[in-house]
Formats: sequence, structure tokens, C-alpha cells
Amino acid sequence: MRHTTQFLLSATAAAQFPAPSVAEIAFLGRSNVGKSSLLNAMVGEKAARVSSTPGRTRAINFFLVSDSHSSKRTVFADLPGYGYAKISKSISAEWPAFIEPYLAERKTLALCVCLVDACVPPRPNDRQLLDWLRAQGRPLQVVATKVDKLSGNERTRNLAALKEGLGTHGILAVSAKTGRGIPELWRAIAEAQESE
Ligand code: GTP
Ligand code: MG
Repeated sequence: MRHTTQFLLSATAAAQFPAPSVAEIAFLGRSNVGKSSLLNAMVGEKAARVSSTPGRTRAINFFLVSDSHSSKRTVFADLPGYGYAKISKSISAEWPAFIEPYLAERKTLALCVCLVDACVPPRPNDRQLLDWLRAQGRPLQVVATKVDKLSGNERTRNLAALKEGLGTHGILAVSAKTGRGIPELWRAIAEAQESE
């Protein structure tokens, strides 16, 4: 699949969100988990900035992604990472105030792609976010990133631990580096759009 990607805008307040139109896919997860890298790997170009300093993105960056073959258009939303400041106890304490209403109320939000690092054991703040999204009734897809760093055995072991710790069965193993899992993630997005 070939895509063209257009950066729409960077929002730091609800008033700045683009007018709701096509189905939106949100990429969320802790700082440095690989949100921007995955988004870039999905569209096949460097649309989103990959950070050298984790935790710097404090805005939601919106991108319009167009399928070159069909007329299908999707908005990707690259969300600020959480969990970088070790002192904060809850997600909401460190996330900018406009993120929670975005996730709770955005009408066009079709799927939350929730990223966790395949090399890191399950973390309470990831579980907290997933439970909160479930309580909101938001469709979500958990994705384990950076699987290129693991051997086959490690991958199996870590994915089992993540499933257990995060209370989810369907974790998709992906790598922005090798492209592993990218077609499967596109399929999950297409399914979420169809069930809108
Ligand atoms: P914030 O915007 O700060 O929240 O970070 P992010 O979640 O957008 O992460 P980003 O995409 O900037 O990547 C963080 C670091 O992880 C970078 O050094 C990337 O090169 C690296 N990285 C991301 N994805 C992969 C992957 O699939 N494999 C490997 N080996 N490294 C990756
Ligand atoms: Mg980023």
C-alpha cells in the first residue's frame, strides 16, 4: 500500500484540534516507546519527528494520510508520551490537560494504538491507560514495539508477560526498523474504520 502524508497541525489545546472529518487513529504510549517511528514506518516517510530527547513532544501532531490507490483518507494523531518524569504517579498528573478530553470525547477517533516496549516489562501506567480507555469504551490495539531487538525466545517470553500484565490477548509485535507487523497493523486500522 502506498500513502501520501501531509502534516496538518500541532495542537496544544482542544480549540486547535482539526475540524473532525475522517476517521482518526491515535498513537499513544510512554515517552521513547517508538510512537513517531512507528507512525513514520506506517506511512513510509519521515512525517513525524523522532525524538533525540524523550518526553519533548507536548502537543498532539495531526497528519492526514491518503491511500494512493483508493480515495481513503485517515488522520493519524501522534500523542505526547507519558511516564518520562519518574516522579509523577498517574498519567493525568503529567499529561497536558487537553489529552484526556481528546481521548474521551473526540468523535472521529476510531482506534487507539497503544504502544508498549517489547523489551520492557509491563508497567502500571500502561495498564492504567488501557483500563481507562476500556472504561471509556474506546477500541484499542496494543502493539509491542522494537521487537527487532529480541531473539525469538525473548520475544515469546516478553509478549506473554505483557499480555498477562496488561490484561490483553491481542498484542501485535511490530518493528519500525524491519517493518514487521506493519501490514497487520494496517489491517487492524482498516477493521476499526469499517466498524465505525
Ligand atoms: P516521544 O515523542 O518522546 O514520546 O517518543 P516516541 O514514542 O515518539 O519515540 P520515537 O519514535 O522518537 O523513538 C524513540 C527511540 O527509539 C529512537 O531512538 C528510535 O530510533 C528508537 N526506535 C523506535 N522504534 C524502534 C524499533 O522498531 N526498533 C529499534 N531498534 N529502535 C526503535
Ligand atoms: Mg514522538
